[in-house]
Amino acid sequence: MDEIKFIKSASGLKDLPRDNLPEVVLCGRSNVGKSSFINSLFRKKNLAKTSSTPGKTRTLNYYLVQNKFYLVDLPGFGYAKVSKKERDEWNKLIRDYLNNDNIMYAIHFIDSRHEPTELDIMLNELLNSFNIPCLILLNKIDKCNQSEIAKAIKNIKTFFSNASIGDNVILHSSITGKGRKEIYTFLQNLFVK
Ligand code: GTP
Ligand code: MG
Repeated sequence: MDEIKFIKSASGLKDLPRDNLPEVVLCGRSNVGKSSFINSLFRKKNLAKTSSTPGKTRTLNYYLVQNKFYLVDLPGFGYAKVSKKERDEWNKLIRDYLNNDNIMYAIHFIDSRHEPTELDIMLNELLNSFNIPCLILLNKIDKCNQSEIAKAIKNIKTFFSNASIGDNVILHSSITGKGRKEIYTFLQNLFVK
């Protein structure tokens, strides 16, 4: 599973691909590392645009993997500088987008240095309400020492009662590559026979 190509940026539901291929959606707060994850997973430098400034990704970006499934890079939420109008539009777009039978899995990115936020809980509930299975990626784990990792794991278990490390929660870093193989194998087993 090493073939990935950028297909399109969709700014509304009318722009989504119409081929009904299965989709894996990357979601979570702005700046948590969703776009960097794509580059790390496929060992590409600049396939997905990333930035140290939150709010880089503003559209639903479709990447086709091995001609089998899409990875969909979503704009992050919780980015302070957008107006209320933009935020409302974002919420509506994401809700409408998630109500979509092609979505087979969501990868919910959470920054391992911070507690899950209210928006993370809302996102988790939204995914559950659409019956979308979800993997939690505890990201930027390279920034944590052992006791911070233990605390991050404890937080996840407190906020998400069904969380189970190594099962539906994966510790990950796009810098060190930790967790890369687990996710790679997971996606390969799902879609690439
Ligand atoms: P939006 O597009 O705003 O939603 O952000 P995003 O979630 O796509 O984040 P992006 O991939 O653009 O990364 C944000 C910043 O975090 C960049 O400066 C990255 O270099 C950095 N970053 C991403 N992943 C990691 C990681 O695993 N560890 C560390 N230390 N930094 C990371
Ligand atoms: Mg992004």
